[in-house]
Amino acid sequence: MEPIGTIEWQKEYESGIEEIDQQHKDIINTLNEIYFAIENREFQGKLSELLDAFDFYVTIHLNTEENYAEKYDFPKIIELKESHEYLRSTYKHLQFIHKGSEKECISRIPYIFHLHSVMREWLGYHLVTLDKELFDFLREKLKE
Ligand SMILES: [Fe+2]
Repeated sequence: MEPIGTIEWQKEYESGIEEIDQQHKDIINTLNEIYFAIENREFQGKLSELLDAFDFYVTIHLNTEENYAEKYDFPKIIELKESHEYLRSTYKHLQFIHKGSEKECISRIPYIFHLHSVMREWLGYHLVTLDKELFDFLREKLKE
């Protein structure tokens, strides 16, 4: 059982494409580390580093998916990009929010946890809906 606030890799998240699965795992691991950094009130150093790492992994990953979707004409590409944009704007917002002083961050903890849980819920949902559709589609295309 995973601690509340984290997300664990599930068999149903597997895409069948190794590169993508590794990217998803890196994203999940970093998101979990972000949760523990918030819980431990490590706002300044640790959380900044983790959010930068998250930005790095997410940027590469969403670009990889969008490139595949474009290359193979995934029918739901607009929906996919809009959904990705939602994640981008949420963590960019979190990056902005946590830049305040230690005191400001502490007063914003419930909101910071809220933004984290939005990202976690987004990921768990996205992996089994739009991502799953994309990878089912791609596996067929890659066979051709
Ligand atoms: Fe994904």
